[in-house]
Amino acid sequence: MSEFFVSNHPLIQNKMALLRNKNTCTKEFKEIISEVAMLLCYEATRNIELVPAKVETPIAEADVNVVNKDVAIVPILRAGMGMLDGLLTLIPTAKVGVIGLYRDPETLKPVEYYCKLPKDIENMEVFVTDPMLATGGTAVAGIDFVKAKGAKKITFLCILAAPEGVKALQAAHPDVDIYAAAYDSHLNDHGYIVPGLGDAGDRIFGTK
Ligand code: URA
Repeated sequence: MSEFFVSNHPLIQNKMALLRNKNTCTKEFKEIISEVAMLLCYEATRNIELVPAKVETPIAEADVNVVNKDVAIVPILRAGMGMLDGLLTLIPTAKVGVIGLYRDPETLKPVEYYCKLPKDIENMEVFVTDPMLATGGTAVAGIDFVKAKGAKKITFLCILAAPEGVKALQAAHPDVDIYAAAYDSHLNDHGYIVPGLGDAGDRIFGTK
């Protein structure tokens, strides 16, 4: 079974308090989502593959370790885009793909409208992002697409997870590690995480 990691880092918890606050404005919300994504990325890359190398320091030759694997970041549109800058801050050479999925408000099921992924994704370390792991439907469908294009090493990064979403994602993709900044108790009848932070897409893009 894959890992389900929930951060207990004080900086992340403090930033989560700001994200949950309904009075946090769009500018601040967007900035903090990016910061939390960056901190989560630091955690999620802890086991990324290294290879030994040598460099010349100004003094002598040194044995070093370098990341030798291409990284792809795949935000699920649209809210997943809010996490992209944070990840790119730590991995500026990452390739970026996007998956367009929306949740049908009636069925709560994901519907695809766009998918563009980097070539050679099968050889890359892939980070799929979506801030809210609620029912898990969108995450499962997004990862279905990434796997259909050949990706093998996939990690899912979210800001907030609910038990329903974690269960669904682990059942559908037991090989995919899940990293979350916080873990809430349940979903309400509209599929929103409780207490949650509201509609992440609307709060990132100021569309409410
Ligand atoms: N999507 C959101 O933006 N918020 C939730 O609580 C659940 C899904």
